[in-house]
Amino acid sequence: MSTILLTETKTAEETELLGFKLAKSLRPDDVVALYGELGSGKTCFVNGIARGLNVLKSVKSPSFSIINEYPGNVPLFHIDFYRLENTAEIEDIGWTEYLDSGGIVIIEWAERVKNVLPSKRIDVYFQILNEVARRLEIIAVDDSGN
Ligand SMILES: Nc1ncnc2c1ncn2[C@@H]1O[C@H](COP(=O)(O)OP(=O)(O)OP(=O)(O)O)[C@@H](O)[C@H]1O
Ligand SMILES: [Mg+2]
Repeated sequence: MSTILLTETKTAEETELLGFKLAKSLRPDDVVALYGELGSGKTCFVNGIARGLNVLKSVKSPSFSIINEYPGNVPLFHIDFYRLENTAEIEDIGWTEYLDSGGIVIIEWAERVKNVLPSKRIDVYFQILNEVARRLEIIAVDDSGN
C-alpha cells in the first residue's frame, strides 16, 4: 500500500479536478474504490474521472440501477452500492463481470463490498472537514501478496 496523494480541497471543482488528473493515469481494467459519507464528494470526483476519460455525459448517481456504463476513451463503469441491502445482493448484481472487461470500474460506497474488492486497486477516502472542505486520500493498494 502506498499513498499517492493526501490533500484537502476547498471547492467541488477542486475535487473534480483531482478526479480528472487521476483519470490520466488510469488504464483499462483499473478499479477505483471510493469510501466516505453522504455528500463527501464521491460523485463529484467520478465526474472528474469521466471528463478525464472524455466521457461526454455528466455522471449521475444511479438511482435504481446500481451500475451505469459511460462510453469514453475506455468504457467507464460507475457502480454505487449505497442502496445495497444485503451481501447476497452483491453477487446477484453480477458486477464482478465488469472487472476484467477492459473498462475502468469506479465504485461508490466501496466499504459495503470491502471483502470482495479486487486485491489490486486504487482506494480513495473522502472526509468532510466542513461545508466546503474535503480531505482526500488516494492510495495504491496491492493485497495480492497477502
Ligand atoms: N471540496 C468539495 N469537494 C466536493 N464536493 C463539495 C466540496 N465542497 C462542497 N461540496 C458539495 O458537496 C456535495 C458533494 O456531493 P456528491 O454527490 O459528490 O457526494 P457523494 O459523496 O457522492 O454523496 P453520496 O454518498 O450521496 O453519493 C456537492 O453538493 C458539492 O457541491
Ligand atoms: Mg454519490
